[in-house]
Amino acid sequence: MSRWTTLSKQHAAHKDRAIRDLFDDPDRASDFSVQVGDMYFDYSKTNIDAQTRDTLLDLARDAGVEARRNEMFSGVHINETEDRAVLHTALRNLDGGPVMVEGDDVMPAVLDTLVAMRRYADEVRSGSYTDVINIGIGGSDLGPAMAVRALAPYHDGPRCHFVSNVDGADIADTLRGLDAKTTLVIVASKTFTTIETMTNARTARAWMHDHGGDPKTQFAALSTAADKTAEFGIDPARVFGFEDWVGGRYSVWGPIGLSLMIAIGPKAFDAFLRGAQDMDTHFRVADLHENLPVLLALTGIWHNQICDYATRAVLPYDELLGLLPNYLQQLEMESNGKGVQRSGVNSPRHTGPVVWGAAGTNGQHAFYQLIHQGTRVIPCEFLLAANGHEAELAHHHQLLVANCLAQSKALMQGRSLDEARAIAATKGFTGAELDRQARHRVFPGNRPSTTLLYPQLDPFTLGQIIALYEHRVFVEGIILDIISFDQWGVELGKELATSLQPVIEGATDTSAEDGSTAALVSFIHRHNG
Ligand code: F6P
Repeated sequence: MSRWTTLSKQHAAHKDRAIRDLFDDPDRASDFSVQVGDMYFDYSKTNIDAQTRDTLLDLARDAGVEARRNEMFSGVHINETEDRAVLHTALRNLDGGPVMVEGDDVMPAVLDTLVAMRRYADEVRSGSYTDVINIGIGGSDLGPAMAVRALAPYHDGPRCHFVSNVDGADIADTLRGLDAKTTLVIVASKTFTTIETMTNARTARAWMHDHGGDPKTQFAALSTAADKTAEFGIDPARVFGFEDWVGGRYSVWGPIGLSLMIAIGPKAFDAFLRGAQDMDTHFRVADLHENLPVLLALTGIWHNQICDYATRAVLPYDELLGLLPNYLQQLEMESNGKGVQRSGVNSPRHTGPVVWGAAGTNGQHAFYQLIHQGTRVIPCEFLLAANGHEAELAHHHQLLVANCLAQSKALMQGRSLDEARAIAATKGFTGAELDRQARHRVFPGNRPSTTLLYPQLDPFTLGQIIALYEHRVFVEGIILDIISFDQWGVELGKELATSLQPVIEGATDTSAEDGSTAALVSFIHRHNG
């Protein structure tokens, strides 16, 4: 019997078991949690028992997770459809040895670029810049934007802004109120061809020129395409390059992280890299049964592929991680949202889940109703710091912690009809009305969640968390036998946008378009004169 079948049978046998009953075993919490350094991951509030965990670990072993992990770290071209190595880990390999790609050690160039970034970041931080705008999209935006917000308590550099959307509202809103003479524009694009980024970059350049700034000295670029940055007119001294073995959504650790380095300083940025390096080491050496990325991945596989829960909520009880769900949407859904396995055959099962979420406690007052009482089960991933940064507001943090722990507890234990009836009775309801009112107050419970705890969201910890999720995505991809490092699914829309542009501009008629698209275009033409 295949591992998948065994897992499905285990799920069928235990799906009605109450998770809270698993705690009759006094060791449940310690057996189903793992501590890595200062980080604690609790997956005891799931319906995974020892037998299922063993099968999940066997599934990972059978898929060759360990061998494939070693291939990734050693520069094998595991991004097979683009014929590329996958080596974002080299960008944070500060204390490790050589990393070979096709016979060459890539570390000297990585470290040289880091030195150049530090020098430039210091120059910007100590100069007259008041503001920095990072223009990029996808991986050239979400990583630095998320991390800059996450590490706000460590900011001591110029203000950072992020412009990504081609919607003119984004750049117009950002430029309004900025001084072109004291603003640095960083154009972040791996390919330097992305239409949104190049359009915004040209608009920013014109604005700077028209408002007394000097685009020749106030523009920097982060890209793999030195020829294109030169064509755009950016001085090579302010171009920070990287190689094609860094995927866009894995690129915050290198030049794409320049805005973060400018915001928090090179030393704190080093701590961010070291946190990721720490997680890399753990991922490489820890046995699978206590390997944090592996366990996080296996809970994902259990919930999505076995239990068939289609979405997963990421719920940081950490306001500073407010952009983490958006960041993870790209990391996870662009990596593992594939319908075809490595060999080219269709995947026999669903692949990546829909990932969504928002910071707690705000989400509690918006969508938690559905999580608690909706008809679909949504596994929740809570993240929580033991300490906030506002020492004088410790009572806020205690409330935050209480709310986070209360949510995972409520999801697990629920409220029975009898309990709900007792509550309805205290409100004065009787007879049939008591029963009706009580039914609205029932919580099914038995809804799984995991909790990741850390002492405080400092640069090192953020590095650990992001690397943890990267490796989780890797492990899930290997188990699902898909290629996690390409993104062909974004191409068709881009091609069609290019071919529609002349239609929108009125240079080409709509005769080649389908009826719906033609009608939409004609509405737009009628209304924009
Ligand atoms: O369209 C998707 C994508 O290619 C992402 O994978 C990438 O992060 C983003 O666009 C931006 O690409 P670039 O950094 O080349 O501008």
